[in-house]
Amino acid sequence: MDLGRQFVYQGKYKMKRVLVTGAYGQIGTELVEALRNRYGGENVIATGRRKPPAVLTKDGPYYRLDALDMNDLQRLLVDYNIDILIHNVSILSAAGEQNPQLAWETNVQTSYNVLEAARIIGLDKVMIPSSIAAFGPSTPRENTPNDVIMRPTTIYGVTKVAIELLGEYYARKFNVDFRSLRYPGIISSEALPGGGTTDYAVAIFYEAIRNKHYTSFLAKDTRLPMMYMPDCLKSTIDLIEADSKKLVHRCFNVTAVSFTPEELAAEIKKVIPDFVCDYKPDFHQAIADSWPKSIDDSVARKEWGWKPEYDLPAMTKDMIKKLKQKLSIPGK
Ligand code: SER
Repeated sequence: MDLGRQFVYQGKYKMKRVLVTGAYGQIGTELVEALRNRYGGENVIATGRRKPPAVLTKDGPYYRLDALDMNDLQRLLVDYNIDILIHNVSILSAAGEQNPQLAWETNVQTSYNVLEAARIIGLDKVMIPSSIAAFGPSTPRENTPNDVIMRPTTIYGVTKVAIELLGEYYARKFNVDFRSLRYPGIISSEALPGGGTTDYAVAIFYEAIRNKHYTSFLAKDTRLPMMYMPDCLKSTIDLIEADSKKLVHRCFNVTAVSFTPEELAAEIKKVIPDFVCDYKPDFHQAIADSWPKSIDDSVARKEWGWKPEYDLPAMTKDMIKKLKQKLSIPGK
């Protein structure tokens, strides 16, 4: 019996219940669907601040929730008997630089509420994502290790380091089972990312298919760690289900591939030969230049068996196929 997903209640196995905040963000949208397939629709509660897209109300409950509202957050966790809370609310790097105060409140204050609620209610597990943005210019940029100096220079990175430290504190002091993944740039075909520095690696596909032309806001040789959505979902579910006895760390580097805009454009060109990419770096460049080029995720591999499935060619082919279907453009 898979005890990551189930527990024994009055002599019977019951499926665990999960609540996801930020459920219609880039990751949340697909994560809710994957969790519902695995835990059962009724056991996965999607929450967000605005009116939900149809996909989130189709197979399970959706609630409007502003995670800054501690009363509402606790009420939902208690009413739905939640075991696992995945807190995906976040303002990303580029958007954070436009409004640092909002980024701090949205990222850190809500994470504090989530950890406090977990402590008070006694939740089983809390997962709050971190990011490669938690590293900074003084971190070694090639094969960045899991345990290394972290002095980010973006407000987004500062919030992620604060969340990591607060989560580790709650684990040590109050026994809250906090876990975190330092996601690299995530490439996906369903919901669009918003306000990130790695967003170019999603936008390039849409523009390649629609217009055969894209202008990158990062220079052609800007190498960043990246991951395709199926690997992102796998890493998230694998970590929340990992046996706590095997975890030495609480925050983990994860990665799948590292590439530059020029290398991605060349891969897209293999499928769409007349695609043209040009480069006009803007304010995003300074953010990217402060982040790792590649990540060492050997700690995640060792402690909970992390292993990605998609490399650059496999991801590119699949993205183009899925987006062509989504945008109803005939072809491969
Ligand atoms: N994708 C994020 C960003 O670009 C990095 O975690 O801000």
